[in-house]
Amino acid sequence: MKIGIVGAGMVGSAAGYALALRGGASEIVLVDRNMALAVAQAEDIAHAVPFAHPCRVSAGDYDALEGADLVILAAGVAQKPGEDRISLLSRNAEVFAQVIAGVQKAAPETMLLVASNPVDVMTEVALRISGLPREKVIGSGTILDTARFRSLLGDHLGVAPQSVHAYVLGEHGDSEVLAWASARAGSEPVARFGVQVGAAITQSVRERIDEGVRRAAYRIIEGKGATWYGIGAGLARIVQAVRDDQRSVLSVSIVTPEVEGVTDVALSLPRVVGRSGVMTTLLPELAEDEASALRRSAEMLKQTALSLG
Ligand code: 2OP
Repeated sequence: MKIGIVGAGMVGSAAGYALALRGGASEIVLVDRNMALAVAQAEDIAHAVPFAHPCRVSAGDYDALEGADLVILAAGVAQKPGEDRISLLSRNAEVFAQVIAGVQKAAPETMLLVASNPVDVMTEVALRISGLPREKVIGSGTILDTARFRSLLGDHLGVAPQSVHAYVLGEHGDSEVLAWASARAGSEPVARFGVQVGAAITQSVRERIDEGVRRAAYRIIEGKGATWYGIGAGLARIVQAVRDDQRSVLSVSIVTPEVEGVTDVALSLPRVVGRSGVMTTLLPELAEDEASALRRSAEMLKQTALSLG
């Protein structure tokens, strides 16, 4: 599979690196308006390939994306310390108008995987500009928040995050919803699992984990200026689900016909992802407060997208 990455900053290059290590692509092409940066990142990633899986890594302009099966869009500005994701919208929407035109000139049918923030609204922007079917314009959405949730729950319960089945829904951002009611460790509801292993999930544990997930990016940005390893691995995970037609259940964002009464809104739900993109969308069992939080998240995202005109 040939994968393009537009935006060779930390997120784009971390995705390329994760893809190279996981064997997620046979060819990776990095594109950036700063060609010297793209060339340097490609050369650096290429030097990891002998320790991983065969893969050609290069840098180029948009023409080099010809024949790409999937293009990751990681271009645009990122948050500064204390800044929220939504405030990036108008700047990044402008960037996408140019970027998607360039991508589609070279690879009109390529699937798009959006990483730039605010990722849900940017996914809708990418859908509008590209005119592709909605299941082929996928935002990384809450794939990362879900990983953060599983990691903190796994730590608390003393199990591997891979054995935790729990999702973060809605916005990848401040209004996201941790879906506790459907969360499982193995096949057990997490509350029952916690009691069995002597690690009860009390209200204060829930609040600590909620805060740990919701504020993760703010903490990391405060400490090192940006986040990239987690999202890089998450993007590579989505690419692998597509490449191998895995039909994996991943929390990703696409424009969804209806969620809690809100129509045509891009947000994350657990979705089956395979060769053709998003194949099926699932709505997990929700507690009443989770359903209303999901509705509020959907309404906020819808209003934000409408504000773009
Ligand atoms: C993250 O959550 C900043 O959206 C980025 O790590």
